[in-house]
Amino acid sequence: MNGHARRARVIAVASGKGGLGRSTLAANLGVTLALAGRKALLVDLDFGLADAATLLGINAAVDLDGLAAGTTPLSAMTLAGPAGLDLVPGGPAGEIPRSRELLLRRLAQSMRPLADRYDDIIVDTTTGASPEVIASIGDSDGVILLVGEEPTAFMNAYGLLRLLAHGPGIAALGIVAAQVEDEAAGAALFQRFASLAARFLPVQPSYLGALPVDSHVRDSVMARRPCVQLFPDCPASLGYRRVAGAVAGGLFKPFAGGDRFLALEGHHALG
Ligand SMILES: Nc1ncnc2c1ncn2[C@@H]1O[C@H](COP(=O)(O)OP(=O)(O)OP(=O)(O)O)[C@@H](O)[C@H]1O
Ligand SMILES: [Mg+2]
Repeated sequence: MNGHARRARVIAVASGKGGLGRSTLAANLGVTLALAGRKALLVDLDFGLADAATLLGINAAVDLDGLAAGTTPLSAMTLAGPAGLDLVPGGPAGEIPRSRELLLRRLAQSMRPLADRYDDIIVDTTTGASPEVIASIGDSDGVILLVGEEPTAFMNAYGLLRLLAHGPGIAALGIVAAQVEDEAAGAALFQRFASLAARFLPVQPSYLGALPVDSHVRDSVMARRPCVQLFPDCPASLGYRRVAGAVAGGLFKPFAGGDRFLALEGHHALG
């Protein structure tokens, strides 16, 4: 412990089920924070895919294998995104499945010097509940969890939360009601999820609002532009801005010891 909090807060965007809107939320959150004048970095941990870069209209020709091998510095992999947002893109890279843990450790090590350069480091995590996924979510300063109405999207979010709560723990938790019809449906979904969580888990979720089903999101993905820039007043953009407001308002705090950063300790332990 070095006794002082670093500047950057590391925020993991997670969901129990794929396709719920995690990457679009992470990208639009990063852009909204950057538009508000914050130094923000988006890290795509979905190795093997490069959704964040694709969503932001960036051609990512980077070599994650080089990072794992120690031949490519992280600075060479940090790309300029819209509105001043920086991006560490995901794959594709052939060797990734084999060296995923090594890559995570290298990434964490090379990101530590960045901890005082950014206000917010947004991490787009991977679908699933492998030990590395749990570690990369659990060692963040806070988690934004997307919960959906469908039983799979609801129960997988709960299952992920249970693994986190009984494993590395969660510093702070924000819930987004994803792909709901309207605000009322979102609030009802949060109530249902929060009361289940409160019964069985030591977590205190904050509600970050609804992301309604909104065709503007698909249109913005097709245009490879952030929804918040292309359609700033659409219902989804209002939802993205509300999540960004909670982040800018200090919902998540940098871990006070300053030593816990993107699963670094966890991967020291593994390695
Ligand atoms: N609020 C929304 N309303 C309508 N469609 C949406 C919304 N959010 C996301 N989508 C659509 O769902 C698709 C998947 O979203 P996204 O890539 O963000 O999901 P994901 O959870 O990251 O999925 P994956 O499991 O593939 O990583 C988007 O391309 C978009 O077309
Ligand atoms: Mg994704």
